[in-house]
Amino acid sequence: MTAPSPLAEPGIVPDPYAVYAELAGREPVHWCAGLNAWAVMRYGDCASALKDPRLKAERMGEVLAAKFPGRQLPQDNIYHRFTRNVMMYTDPPRHDALRRSTRTAFTRAAHEHYDRVIRRVATDVVASLPAGTTEIDAVPALAALLPVRSAVHAFGVPEEDLDIVIPCVETLMTYWSGPREQPVELDRLLGQLGDLHTYAAELLDCKRGEVLPDTVIARLAAARDDRAESTAEQTVHQLVLLFIALFAPTTPGSLSSGMLAFARNPRQVERFLADPACVENTPHEVVRYNASNQFTWRVTSTEVEIGGVRIGAGRNVALFLGAANRDPEVFERPDAFDLERRNSGAHLSFGLGVHSCLGRQIAALQLKWFFVALLGRFPGLRPAGEPVWNENLEFRSLRSLPLGLR
Ligand code: HEM
Repeated sequence: MTAPSPLAEPGIVPDPYAVYAELAGREPVHWCAGLNAWAVMRYGDCASALKDPRLKAERMGEVLAAKFPGRQLPQDNIYHRFTRNVMMYTDPPRHDALRRSTRTAFTRAAHEHYDRVIRRVATDVVASLPAGTTEIDAVPALAALLPVRSAVHAFGVPEEDLDIVIPCVETLMTYWSGPREQPVELDRLLGQLGDLHTYAAELLDCKRGEVLPDTVIARLAAARDDRAESTAEQTVHQLVLLFIALFAPTTPGSLSSGMLAFARNPRQVERFLADPACVENTPHEVVRYNASNQFTWRVTSTEVEIGGVRIGAGRNVALFLGAANRDPEVFERPDAFDLERRNSGAHLSFGLGVHSCLGRQIAALQLKWFFVALLGRFPGLRPAGEPVWNENLEFRSLRSLPLGLR
C-alpha cells in the first residue's frame, strides 16, 4: 500500500466512486486500517468471496470485543442468543435452517400479495403531496414514508406499535452500522434488544396491536407451530432481524438516491415513461448505481487468497458491493445511470449466495411502484439545492434532498 486507504474517511461519502476506481486500479485488495479489515474492490473478487464458505458470516463475538473492549457477556445473554441464532450472522447448515423457518412469508403467492399492497401504498404516499406542491425535501416527504407504510401494510407491523419499534431499531442501528465510534453504551443497547425481543414474542402470540392479514408477520405467526427445524425462540429472533432490516436506512437510501439519479438525468425520466422494459429495470439500475449497503463483512476461517493477496485466518474482510457495481470489467460506462443497461440485474447490492437479501423482492417492489407513481405525477423532477448525505459509508443514504416538482 503506497498511501493509507481513505475508505473509512467520512469525507468520501458524497461521492466515493472516484476513490473506489483509483483503489481498484492501484490495489484492489488492500489493508484498510480505519476499517480494521482487508478491503475488496473488484466485482469478481467480491462475488467469489460472497460464495466462498471459508469466509464466515459468524463474527458478532469479535465485533462485540472490538466495539466494547473488555466487556464479556455470558453465553445466555440476549446479544449472543440473538447473533448466534439469526440467518444474517450464521453459516450453513444452521443458517439454512433459520432462513427456511421464514419461507412461508416469502413464497411466490405471498409476493404477489405484497405487490398489490405496495403498489397501493406507493400511490398513496405520492398522492399525499398536496396539489400545487413545487418543492420538497424528498427524504422526509417521500423516501422515509414509503418503507414505514409498507412495514404496516405488507409486513404487518401494527400501526399503533410503530412508536415502539422504530426508536428501538434506530438505537440498535448505531451498533450495527459500523465501523464508527459507538455512540450508545452497551447496557442501553442490550436493553433495547431485549425489549424488541419481548415485543416480537408478544406480537407473534397475538398479545399486541392488530396484525393485518396476509402480511409477513401474519404468515410467520400462522406457521409458528409448524417448526421441524427451528425453535420458537429462533422464530422470534428472525422477526427481530426483520424489524432491523425493515427500518434500516437501506430502503429509504435507495428510494432517495434513485430520486437524485432521475432528477439529474431527465433523459432517463423520458425513457422510463416511454418504455415498460425501463420501468422493470429501474429497481436494478437504481440499486446498481448507488448501493445503500456499500460494503458488507466476512471473517476468514483459514488462510485464503483473494485477488492474488494472501489473507491470514481470523481477519476481517470488507466486501465493497458499491465498488463492484461500478466495475468497468462488468458494467459498460459504469458511472452512467442508464435504464437501458442490459445487465443492471448483475449488481451485488443485495449480496449473493446463501446470504442474499431476503427482502430484495419487497425492496424492488417498493422502488418500482414508487417511481411509477412519482414520475407519473411529476415528470419534471429537478434538483432544487445541494443534497446532504449522512456520514456513513456502510449504510449510505441521503439526509436531505431538495427537489423541484413539475
Ligand atoms: C434497498 C433495500 C435493501 C438493501 C440494499 C439490502 C441489502 C442487503 C444485503 C447486501 C444483504 C446481504 C448481507 C451479507 O451478505 O452480508 C442483505 C441481507 C438480508 N436482508 Fe436486505 N436489503 C434491503 C432491504 C431489505 C428488507 C426490506 C428486508 C426485510 C425483509 C431485508 C432483509 C434481509 C435479511 C433477513 C437478510 C439476511 C439474509 C441471510 O443472511 O440469509 N432486506 N440485505
